[in-house]
Amino acid sequence: MTAPRLSGQFKAKPLRGAVLIPGDKSITHRAIILSALAKGRSRIQGYLPSEDCERTLAAFQSMRISIQKTNKSGKDLLEVEGKGLKGLTEPEDVIDCGNSGTTMRLMSGLLSGQSFFSVLTGDQSLRKRPMKRVIEPLRLMGAEISGRAEGTQAPLAISGKALKPVAYHLPIASAQVKSAILLAGLCTEGRTTVYEPGPSRDHTERMFEFFEVPFKKKGAALSVEGGGSFQARDINIPGDISSAAFFLVAGSIVPGSEIMLKNVGLNPSRTGVLEVLQKMGADIQIQPLSSSTNEPVADLIVRFAPLKATLIEGPLMTAVIDEFPILCVAAARAEGTTVFRDGGELRVKESDRIERMAEGLRGMGLDLETHSDGISIEGRADWKSTACKTDGDHRIAMSMTVAGLLTDGGNHVDDLKCINTSFPGFLTLLSQLAVT
Ligand code: S3P
Repeated sequence: MTAPRLSGQFKAKPLRGAVLIPGDKSITHRAIILSALAKGRSRIQGYLPSEDCERTLAAFQSMRISIQKTNKSGKDLLEVEGKGLKGLTEPEDVIDCGNSGTTMRLMSGLLSGQSFFSVLTGDQSLRKRPMKRVIEPLRLMGAEISGRAEGTQAPLAISGKALKPVAYHLPIASAQVKSAILLAGLCTEGRTTVYEPGPSRDHTERMFEFFEVPFKKKGAALSVEGGGSFQARDINIPGDISSAAFFLVAGSIVPGSEIMLKNVGLNPSRTGVLEVLQKMGADIQIQPLSSSTNEPVADLIVRFAPLKATLIEGPLMTAVIDEFPILCVAAARAEGTTVFRDGGELRVKESDRIERMAEGLRGMGLDLETHSDGISIEGRADWKSTACKTDGDHRIAMSMTVAGLLTDGGNHVDDLKCINTSFPGFLTLLSQLAVT
C-alpha cells in the first residue's frame, strides 16, 4: 500500500501549523479499567479512540460494563458505569486484545483475581509476544493461568480466583508487568508490593492516586491495599507524547518547519524523547499548562534545526522505548553516528523494531550497524525512497512515512492501516501541515 498524498509532492515542503495531539494511549487504557472498577459513572474526556484502546473498551463491554460514547458541549466523552471490583460478569466469548500488549498484560492481572473464567487472545504479533513476565508473578499470587508454548504465549486461559498478596521484585523495568501485578493486587485482600529495578511509566500509580485507591510509593516500592471500593471520577486525558514525537522529529528535520503541538502530556517518565532531541540540538519550546488528571501537560513548539548525533543507553533507552523508530529517523539525519544501546526489549515489541528500522533505513541509503540491543546509525542528507515492511507495526509505519518526506518519491509503506492502532488521523494531520 502506498501513501499517495505523502509521496513526491511533499519533498522538503515545510511543515507549518498547529496540531491537537490525540489522547494518551497508556492513560486511556488505565482510565477505562479504573472507571469500570470504580462505583458509579465516570466521564472520560480526551480518550484515544484507537484500535488498541477500543480493545480494552470492548473487553469491559463483554463483561457487562456499560460504556457509552457521547458528545457534551462539543466534547467527545466515554461514560463508564463502574460496578466495583466485583461487578464484572464472566465474558461469553474469548477477549480479543488485537495488537494491544497493554490490554493483554493488564487484563491478565485483573482477570486472575476475578471469580470467573476468561480467555485472552490477540493478533499474530501479540500471540508471539512474551507473556511469561506477567504469568510468573501472577502465579506467585496463586493465579491459575495456562497458555500456549508451555504457558508463555497467548491465547491465555485464566481461571479467576481469590489471590494472595505478594511482594515481587520485577526483573525488568516494565510498566505493563508492574501494572498487571498492581491490578491483581487491587482485587486481592491485603497489601501487594512491587519493587521496580528502574523507572518505567507511572500512569497506573497516578490513576490509583486520582481514584483515591489506597496506594503508596516509597522509593522503588509500590504498594496497593486491595479489596476496597472507590468512587467514579471525571477524567481528562492529555495528548500522547509518543504520538507528538512523530511531529517533533518531522518538524526538526524538514527545513523551514514550525509546528505547534497542543495539549501534550509531559509525565516525567515519558519525556525521554524531549531529552534526546534536545541533546541532538532540536529547537523545542515548552509552554506548560495546568496539569490534568494528575498528569502534567504543555504545548510544544518545534522548529527546524540541524541535528547532531548522540548516545542513548541505560534508563534513557527505557524512557524512549516507544519513540525508538522515529528517533532512528532523527539519527539518520543527524551529523555523526548515533548509538542506541540497552534496548533488547525492542526485539519483542509489536515487531522487531531494530530489524524493521534497520531494513527501512538501509533501503533509504543509510549506513548502519545493528546490535543485539540497539543500532548505530550514521546520519546523511541524501535519502532515497524505499519500499518498507512494517510487520503491522504502527510506529514503524509512521516513522517510515515521516522519513519519506525528505525523499524524492516518498516511502512505500506496506501497511498504513496499522497506524490506527495508536494514531487514527495521523496521515491527514501530517498532510495538512505541509505548506504548498
Ligand atoms: C506501556 C508500557 C510499555 C510501552 C507500551 C505501553 C503501558 O511497555 O512500551 O507501548 O501502557 O504500560 P513495557 O511495559 O513492556 O515496557
